[in-house]
Amino acid sequence: MAGGPTTVELVAAASKAGALAFVAGAYKSAVELATEVRAVSIRAGGPLGVNVFVPGRPIADPSPVTRYAGEIEADARRLGVALGPASWDDDDWNAKVELLTEVAPAVASFAFGCPPRAVIEALQRRGSTVMVTVTSVVEADVAIASGAALLCAQGIEAGAHRGCFDDTAPDDELGTLRLVRAIASRHRVPVVAAGGIGTPRDVRAALAAGAVAVQAGTAFLRSDEAGTSPTHRAALADPRFTTTALTRAFTGRRARGLLNRFMTLHPSAPTAFPEIHHLMKPLRLAASRAGDAERTNLWAGTGYRHSRQAPAGDIVQWLASEIDL
Ligand SMILES: Cc1cc2nc3c(=O)[nH]c(=O)nc-3n(C[C@H](O)[C@H](O)[C@H](O)COP(=O)(O)O)c2cc1C
Repeated sequence: MAGGPTTVELVAAASKAGALAFVAGAYKSAVELATEVRAVSIRAGGPLGVNVFVPGRPIADPSPVTRYAGEIEADARRLGVALGPASWDDDDWNAKVELLTEVAPAVASFAFGCPPRAVIEALQRRGSTVMVTVTSVVEADVAIASGAALLCAQGIEAGAHRGCFDDTAPDDELGTLRLVRAIASRHRVPVVAAGGIGTPRDVRAALAAGAVAVQAGTAFLRSDEAGTSPTHRAALADPRFTTTALTRAFTGRRARGLLNRFMTLHPSAPTAFPEIHHLMKPLRLAASRAGDAERTNLWAGTGYRHSRQAPAGDIVQWLASEIDL
């Protein structure tokens, strides 16, 4: 969970409890990621995963972003900050691929796209299992054709960004269980279920649908070891927030969060990631620091009511408590 919630402590605690925990590689340089991977390797109890974003392309026409910047300027002013530069970058892709190839984590996980076959093969030669996040059967076909050995099937219930390959393409919006069933009945590649998994029963349902494992995010957002901001933590437990919704308002890519005023007031943010992510960064941060839950992103999956304050290890053990081995 890039952007703060995943910390070295969270990965270490989940790993010690028997989970395959992932270091969040996005939104940081390859050098920072290398430091984090080293710190986690010393403290974790078992094999590790590392997750990175596959970069897209810069937007061809900047005018929708300029228009959006005009629309949100008043919010930034009210918070006493200037908007950030609406710049594109590849999140240090080449250096991160090099780092993954060097450290060879047990699982190298990719979201927002499928890495080129050459990258997948290089990682597999080093002994890593390559996992690609998919949100549709078509994406699953592409990932398998490119050589992925493990798929993360992310249903529409999932917290934070949709892992889809193209944010402008029509979205099938399949629920986690339907997506898992659809992929598992078509391919022999093992499938990890992600999205809306917050209880031991959800875990059982995902395994019964054909998944070999589950991936949970929201369930850990309020854990003791997570780096989730106090504003975000409080909102997850605040009865004022009654539902989640998808939005591009905070980053220029569809993502699920607790429905707040900013999302309601800015329903038409364009597809432009990471341009809007950078544009909005000072605003999101200022709102979060000021405790203004109505103007910052409160990423959450539909199962957020099950996200509880507890040691991450207890959450891992609870989620796994009804698995028949
Ligand atoms: C705050 C937050 C940050 C996330 N960051 C990432 C990320 O950096 N990379 C990624 O592949 N998935 C990320 N995800 C998505 C998870 O990998 C997973 O698909 C999702 O959490 C599953 O749904 P759930 O939140 O309902 O458990 C994030 C999820 C949350 C809640």
